[in-house]
Amino acid sequence: MKVLVFGSLNIDYVYSVEHFVQPGETISSTARQIFCGGKGLNQAIAFAKYGHDTWQAGAVGVGDSQMLLEMLQQAGVHTDFIAQKEGASGHTIIQCTPQGENNIILFGGANQTISKEDVDKVLGNFEKGDYLILQNEINQVPYIMEKAHNKGMYIVLNPSPMDDKIFKMPLKYVDYLILNEIEATAILQAKNLKNEAELTSEQLLDMLIRKFPDSKIVLTLGGEGAMYGDRKKRCSQGIISVKVVDTTAAGDTFTGYFMGEIINGKMPEEALKTAAAAAALAVSRKGAGTSIPAYAEVEKMKQEKHK
Ligand code: RIB
Repeated sequence: MKVLVFGSLNIDYVYSVEHFVQPGETISSTARQIFCGGKGLNQAIAFAKYGHDTWQAGAVGVGDSQMLLEMLQQAGVHTDFIAQKEGASGHTIIQCTPQGENNIILFGGANQTISKEDVDKVLGNFEKGDYLILQNEINQVPYIMEKAHNKGMYIVLNPSPMDDKIFKMPLKYVDYLILNEIEATAILQAKNLKNEAELTSEQLLDMLIRKFPDSKIVLTLGGEGAMYGDRKKRCSQGIISVKVVDTTAAGDTFTGYFMGEIINGKMPEEALKTAAAAAALAVSRKGAGTSIPAYAEVEKMKQEKHK
């Protein structure tokens, strides 16, 4: 069984700022750091660090991608299916405050140049029972989902960042849907419902299960933890409190470690615990790919905090 993360690779330019820049305002940053990121790259690293045999597919620019490929290789991710394209790799501009909050401007670059031929070539190497992990930072996601479904691959979707492209995806094929409350509200188009502001996380989860009855749902709740639900089962898990340095890639780390456990046959309760420990370690460190913990660190954190 193989794990294929078909997703973005970005160079993250992280600016430390006292507060997020306001409309019309110019502020100086106190530092700039450059990290490897992209939801695809981060999740691929999390799966590999968990211990799964992991491939990343996607696209990078020929001239500026060396650090991205090296970082994946160092983490043990296979990079043979990452296409090299003319032009720039994807990049982001991230503001990070002393409280560890961030906001992100995304430039798609090579992530948006994937062709159907690229997809066919990659998926030719995978088969029934393999896992496909997707986010919403590359083009061709609907085509990738159709092809992977026809092959009998399991499909995991983290619909992030959320935008209208999500509604062009064949969501009925998704086996695991991992999303936060804002993404959940958008995917349910709950803004059209009367009492949007009053929806509790339990109600959101109920609505997601009703809308996607064949999917298993993980609803992440930021500081409140996360919930799992399917037609037969519900469970939830709080966060492990740590000093927050940078929340970038915490969600990606959570996804990789949660699914890492599920693929290994663990119950959702256990998978949520492991993912909470992994995410706590990720938020206590700066950067995206670099903040993703090793399996042994996650186990240690779990033993100490989930006694
Ligand atoms: O999820 C975090 C990631 O989102 C960052 O690494 C950035 O590249 C954006 O894609």
